[in-house]
Amino acid sequence: MSELNSALEHPTYNYKVVRQFAVMTVVWGIVGMLVGVLIAAQLAWPALNFDLPYLHFGRLRPLHTNAVIFAFGGCALFCTSYYIVQRTCQTRLVSDKLAAITFWGWQLVIVAAAVTLPLGMTSSKEYAELEWPIDILIAVVWILYAIVFFGTIMKRKTSHIYVANWFLGAFILAVAILHIINSLAIPVSMTKSYSIYAGTVDAMVQWWYGHNAVGFFLTAGFLGMMYYFVPKQAERPVYSYRLSIVHFWALVAVYIWAGPHHLHYTALPDWAQSLGMVMSIILLAPSWGGMINGMMTLSGAWHKLRTDPILRFMVVSLSFYGMSTFEGPMMAIKTVNALSHYTDWTIGHVHSGALGWVAMISIGCLYHLIPILFGKERMYSTDLINTHFWMATIGTVLYIASMWVNGILQGLMWRAYNQDGTLTYSFVESLEASYAGYVVRVIGGAIFFSGMLIMAYNLYMTSRSDVVSQPAPAAASAA
Ligand code: HEM
Ligand code: HEM
Repeated sequence: MSELNSALEHPTYNYKVVRQFAVMTVVWGIVGMLVGVLIAAQLAWPALNFDLPYLHFGRLRPLHTNAVIFAFGGCALFCTSYYIVQRTCQTRLVSDKLAAITFWGWQLVIVAAAVTLPLGMTSSKEYAELEWPIDILIAVVWILYAIVFFGTIMKRKTSHIYVANWFLGAFILAVAILHIINSLAIPVSMTKSYSIYAGTVDAMVQWWYGHNAVGFFLTAGFLGMMYYFVPKQAERPVYSYRLSIVHFWALVAVYIWAGPHHLHYTALPDWAQSLGMVMSIILLAPSWGGMINGMMTLSGAWHKLRTDPILRFMVVSLSFYGMSTFEGPMMAIKTVNALSHYTDWTIGHVHSGALGWVAMISIGCLYHLIPILFGKERMYSTDLINTHFWMATIGTVLYIASMWVNGILQGLMWRAYNQDGTLTYSFVESLEASYAGYVVRVIGGAIFFSGMLIMAYNLYMTSRSDVVSQPAPAAASAA
């Protein structure tokens, strides 16, 4: 094993930690999506909880969200950010030891989540369910991550800081602040704590965190990935570097205000709800600026889409990014939200961002990276990448289309009333009408999940393949 590791050692860069995170991205992607398929199946066939508390929907749902966002998405972000920062700064990570601690620390956080959530230990804050000892561990790992990332930027050999690092840096800083402030709590035992905030303030802090978890964890970090890997894969420079800078400042300045759109028609002051709505609509502009910048990077290279499934993953992910960031501002309009809130429309929106954008851009970037990290010429099978691409695309479309239909159906059924003022439909009737959509979602999810298994096989076979890449001189391989 150590022989293999030393054979894979890069003379200039620390690829070991990048490789470890890359492998774990695939592993946690499979685990998180498997739980996703199971809870999707439970919503169609509730008996699948087998009457075991550990397998109940209420416990597995946060396991799914934590596994896909923080384990799958988190490992993808650690992996690509450590790679990008080294290549664009033309220097090795500031500390191999600290980087290794972030890897093992993050895996420990994930395992702790996988144990405590099915046992029912939860702070009950969405996307921040983990109890206080794990929260402290997250904060420590994250601060070390910031030290490694910014320390590497400080010792860079290039004069400027490439724009991907701006997005990644903003993501690291914002997540540290959001996590620490939202998780402040008073512990009453090792496994239970109470938030220091109460009532409406608690709700507002939670959704300031929740929305910016979307904005910085699920968006800014992945945009950093996009700004490095799309030009690399297309072998074209970024369409407009100026637009990327405008995109960056506009995105970080606007995202932070949009949280109240999660709290429309609640006890939150009306002006704060309206502010959240207006800021969300404005957010369309920077989001689309970034999407267009990514897409237009392909000008002159569109023909590559015919033969390169990795590029297809990237372009389709950008299309889903554009779609979900159009849909989001629409859903933030109060009158639209009156229909969409509490329905499966929200779930459709989430997965158009999560599967279409986050998962597909990560998968595309990993296919670009894996051969480099294992010192191989290319992935074991391009046909399998192509198969995976179609499975991911079809799976996502089935998932989100079924949830849109369900969502609008539910919203309209719940608000329909008779002339005498009574409701036309009972809740159970709306549930029955949603059944077909739930089955289609299971099928879509299972297809997406199976694509991940193909990826794991392709990764394994690539790591064992004999098609070794020719070592490039260190200077030529930089950046
Ligand atoms: C095979 C793929 C997947 C399947 C089958 C799946 C399924 C599900 C299901 C059934 C729910 C619960 C919906 C409800 O409560 O009504 C859910 C929630 C959620 N999933 Fe997934 N999921 C998948 C992949 C992902 C990925 C890759 C991500 C993120 C990168 C993700 C993020 C989320 C989030 C954030 C929620 C909570 C949504 C909300 O509270 O509005 N999922 N998923
Ligand atoms: C301009 C960009 C976006 C805006 C303005 C926006 C807006 C919204 C709105 C209005 C909701 C519904 C809130 C509710 O009724 O409870 C929502 C939910 C959500 N969005 Fe977005 N969205 C955007 C982009 C994205 C992207 C790109 C992703 C994923 C990568 C995403 C993930 C989510 C999640 C996870 C939720 C569910 C939160 C929850 O209730 O648990 N959004 N978004």
